[in-house]
Amino acid sequence: MTDHKLMNAQLEALVAGVPHPVANMANASALIWDSMDELNWAGFYLIEDGKLVLGPFQGKPACIEIPLGSGVCGTAAAGDTTLIVDNVHEFPGHIACDCASNSEIVVPLHKDGRVIGVLDIDSPVFARFTEEDRQGLEEFARILEANI
Ligand code: SME
Repeated sequence: MTDHKLMNAQLEALVAGVPHPVANMANASALIWDSMDELNWAGFYLIEDGKLVLGPFQGKPACIEIPLGSGVCGTAAAGDTTLIVDNVHEFPGHIACDCASNSEIVVPLHKDGRVIGVLDIDSPVFARFTEEDRQGLEEFARILEANI
């Protein structure tokens, strides 16, 4: 089980006062990778010209562009809502970047009240992500978005 309180305190310490969005997202993805068990991908997609574009991440190379409204990431971004998907193979329009992924959580990121991208975390374990993960990672996103 992830110690979200500890991970969020570590994120705060890593990003506070650092005026470099890419560096902060790179460190944030590395922190998640190091702190959460049973992951095969953790990183960011950022909205650029009306679509999601791959940002800093840990894991295997991934799809570069995702249309808003497509897949788990595009659906979470378009609806401005966190999505937990227990079995990605049952999600309509799921985009399989890494065939090892079986479950996923996607948390929108905001700036000035608008969605600017998503935090996407994938697991090879079905139903890996819990309500506790949602709460912890939404807080993680609030800390990060104040520093990107
Ligand atoms: N599975 C995602 C695509 C991104 S990768 O998993 C890194 C989706 O359907 O949005």
